[in-house]
Amino acid sequence: TYVVTDNCIACKYTDCVEVCPVDCFYEGENMLVIHPDECIDCGVCEPECPADAIRPDTEPDMESWVELNRKYAEVWPVIVTKKDPLPEATDLDGQPGKLATHFS
Ligand code: F3S
Repeated sequence: TYVVTDNCIACKYTDCVEVCPVDCFYEGENMLVIHPDECIDCGVCEPECPADAIRPDTEPDMESWVELNRKYAEVWPVIVTKKDPLPEATDLDGQPGKLATHFS
């Protein structure tokens, strides 16, 4: 499965949602998540993210991101249409540790 990770936070470019064939992106205030059980592992979203925030769960230390994606995909609404990025997207793209500083 693929999941959304730290660098989506406070950027939320939303290019990813346009290409997902199973509509498994869910939208929070300042981040999207993928429902890990709905993702079919096609991988088309990964290169679409300008922030390189979408990662396969086969990378090291992804367990906490899989759990975060699953937890919020259960409660946030689905998003299928691209919208404008968050206003601070350009400034905060690439800033490390945004889960601690900018997630709400
Ligand atoms: Fe986030 Fe990248 Fe999608 S910044 S909203 S995962 S295109």
